[in-house]
Amino acid sequence: MTDYRSLMATPFQSKHIVLGVTGSIAAYKAAELASKMTQAGALVDVVLTPAALQFITPLTFQSVTGRKAYTDADLWGGEAHVLHVGMGHSANLLVIAPISANTLAKLAHGIADNLLSVTALAARCPILVAPAMDVGMYTNVATQANVEILRQRGVIFVGPAEGRMASGLVGLGRFVEPPEILGHIRLTLSRGGPLANRKVIVTAGGTQEPLDPVRVIANRSSGKQGFALAQAALDLGADVTLIAGPTALPTPIGARRVDVNTAQEMLEAVLAAIVRADALLMAAAVADFTPAVTAEQKIKKEGGIPQITLRATPDILAAVAPQRSATGFPRVTVGFAAESQSLLDNARVKLESKKLDLIVANDISARDAGFGVDDNRVTLLDAGGGVESLPLMSKSEVAESVLARVTHLLAGR
Ligand code: CTP
Repeated sequence: MTDYRSLMATPFQSKHIVLGVTGSIAAYKAAELASKMTQAGALVDVVLTPAALQFITPLTFQSVTGRKAYTDADLWGGEAHVLHVGMGHSANLLVIAPISANTLAKLAHGIADNLLSVTALAARCPILVAPAMDVGMYTNVATQANVEILRQRGVIFVGPAEGRMASGLVGLGRFVEPPEILGHIRLTLSRGGPLANRKVIVTAGGTQEPLDPVRVIANRSSGKQGFALAQAALDLGADVTLIAGPTALPTPIGARRVDVNTAQEMLEAVLAAIVRADALLMAAAVADFTPAVTAEQKIKKEGGIPQITLRATPDILAAVAPQRSATGFPRVTVGFAAESQSLLDNARVKLESKKLDLIVANDISARDAGFGVDDNRVTLLDAGGGVESLPLMSKSEVAESVLARVTHLLAGR
């Protein structure tokens, strides 16, 4: 099979990000942003405003990025004339987090009176800002007008959130927590990727079939592999719909999530989502059987040991196949085969009977991979007869490998 590794870098890898930090008590949280982005492979140049220096020092940022953190002292230095223009031109993204009401106002009106605002004015890259300010300042008509001007210009806003602020007041103005901001940065960096304008549908997790109002027949699928596929598709710029069985996993930022319980609900959600879809990745562990009747009231012990009669659920991939031949969508269909014996033979039968382009086969008898854990060991079989066994790797890496192949399949369709 072709080597697709060049497609597999995370969106942060080798990206140049300028992180502006302004005067807010939330400035200390920017250190976590700088640290995580650096760890993910980005080159992070931090620019602090004079007000930010009242809350945090350049040394904090230098320690986590391994690079000089800039202040207004650099605005008038020997290389000053190239510094702001250089950063503004070479950056892939300018993030200002936290952004104060003052800096928002400067950006809205093109004021360039410190290194950060000069850099913002020179920037040719997307700008993402995360406001942090007192509720009165944020809701003030002046700030709201500035927010509107910037939104119209395409500036991406993350937050502010509602909640308790340092002043003790509760309201809109709280800095969104760094993990969520990082998710939005990741999404922004992924825009225009190889799957841009491609619609990818992912199913994840196990379905639950109700016996009565409190009991269900479930399976051991955690949803981790499906959620990793959704993230990997987002990382390549796709428009992602994630159809998920019950799971507490957080939705990858940017994915449209549709929650379902039963196989029947998943079937309906999939059939609705695949209209004009480019790819369907069926990672869900769909129940094959459901109780023939669901008791309306809780089944009581006094009634004796219940006899449960099961009936077959719809096979979702089998239902997709005729829709696909009639409409041409989804353009690519990927199935998953969880097997405890005869892995490749069983997977090949499913690949053919379900009319798939690719099947991801995993041996669920292995203890170090598969259900519930973070790693997976899979073999990829394609409709052309290609077989590739991947080594034990994280579910994120498996997802990247699968998406790289989906990207390749879609290139010709
Ligand atoms: N699948 C489906 N609808 C079902 C059951 C499974 O679309 N009712 C999909 C799964 O999401 C997966 C593929 O079919 O992508 C194979 O699932 P698996 O459970 O391994 O196979 P089954 O067809 O259910 O066969 P068996 O359980 O007998 O191995």
